[in-house]
This record gives sequence, C-alpha cells and structure tokens, in this order.
Amino acid sequence: MRFCLNVDHIATLRNARGETQPDPVTFALMAEQYGVDGIVVHLREDRRHINERDVRLLRELITTKLDLEMAAVDDIINIACDVQPELATLVPERRQELTTEGGVNVIDDIKNIRSAIKRLHDSEISVSLFIEPDINQIDAAAEINADIIEIHTGHYANAVGEEDIYDELERVRIAAKHAKKLGLGVNAGHGLNYNNMKEFVAISEIDEVSIGHAVLARAVFVGLEQAIKEMIALTRSR
Ligand code: PXP
Repeated sequence: MRFCLNVDHIATLRNARGETQPDPVTFALMAEQYGVDGIVVHLREDRRHINERDVRLLRELITTKLDLEMAAVDDIINIACDVQPELATLVPERRQELTTEGGVNVIDDIKNIRSAIKRLHDSEISVSLFIEPDINQIDAAAEINADIIEIHTGHYANAVGEEDIYDELERVRIAAKHAKKLGLGVNAGHGLNYNNMKEFVAISEIDEVSIGHAVLARAVFVGLEQAIKEMIALTRSR
C-alpha cells in the first residue's frame, strides 16, 4: 500500500502569522526524503491554507507525485490543467467546513463531474473521485471514466465499538473489491491514523492512502522522519 502525505496543515500554520515559515514546500521535500510515495495538497477556493505559489513550486520540485485535491469548478480546473499534477482528486467543498466532510455525490452532480474529468483528461491528468464506500457511487464513477476512486474513510475512522468498526471496515472492503472489479484504481483517506491503519492495511484492493492530520500531529512530538517511518512501516505491513 502506497502512502501519500497531505501537507495542508503546514500551510495553515504558516498562514497563522502571515509569514513564510513553516514552508509546506520545504516540508514536502523533506517528507519525500523520508520515503513518502507522494505529496497531497488541497487548493481550496478560499485559499485558506495551500496557495497557488505552493502548488506551482511543488510541481517544479517534488520527484514523487503530486495529488492535487480540488473542487470541480472552472477556476481551479484551469489551474490544474496548467500545473499538471499526476493526479487530480475531486472533492466536495463547502466554505464553512473545517475539513472535507464527505464524498462527492457523483450521481447528483454527474454532468459537472463528467465535464471536469473530460477537461482534466484532455490535459493528460488522471482523475480520482473522493466518494463514499457506496456501490452506486462507484458505478457512476466508472461510467464517467474516472481513473481512480478515493474511498472516504471518515465513517470508519469515527466508528466507536467493535461492531461499528467492523461494519464500517466491511463497507470499505466491499467498495474496494467492487471498484477493482470495474478496473478502477482504489485510494482511501480521511481520518486514518496509527491505530486504525493496523486493520485497514489488510484490505488488499487498496493501492494507496492519503493521510495528513495524524502524521503531522505525531511529527510535532517525535519529528517528521520518525512519524513518516512509523506510518510507512504500517502501510507496508501486509
Ligand atoms: N483525502 C481527502 C480527500 C481529504 O480531503 C483529506 C483531508 O484533507 C484527507 C484524505 C486526509 O485526511 P486526514 O487529514 O484526516 O488524514
């Protein structure tokens, strides 16, 4: 299982003082040295953390891969087509939310998502859709030519009690199997951490995880190198 690191929080910290440190680009380059498989950033419409300068510098400097999380809106699609990340992950975006709160509703927004995928494909960018572990959403993603789905793991991460945790993990497992059968790549993310990865890693259909908060929070205490290496050990443990 590959592990890509989301560095949005570093930009949040930088922006807290309106200065230049800590720099998310420098941070991403260090994370690459410690072995992550890719860097993830979310360029939000309100630019609350990552900005265009970060995305363009990352594009120029990182040597693994860039996964640009974004809403399916024209302004951001234009930037993506210009920057050319290896992967664009389409996410829903609400101004008031603290973080992404759920998956894209591919079925309800099919026309818009289809056209975003087409524009990104025309610029030779692979497209992933961040969706709930729901068979109908996965079928819709395949129908409109998504390359990859990223399964929203927030419900698994928030589940309390053995039974709930098992049920949510099962939902993810079934969704991942279904997506693989349809020929889609399968990523996953949101709320994954050092504890809940232990069981999660057994889902062999999941190619890649995108993790931010847990790893950056741990890095504050033990340093980035150790935080990354511990997560790599978990993601490689199956
Ligand atoms: N995947 C997507 C689509 C996200 O929006 C986020 C949160 O930015 C993540 C993964 C990572 O979530 P977390 O920070 O909880 O690891």
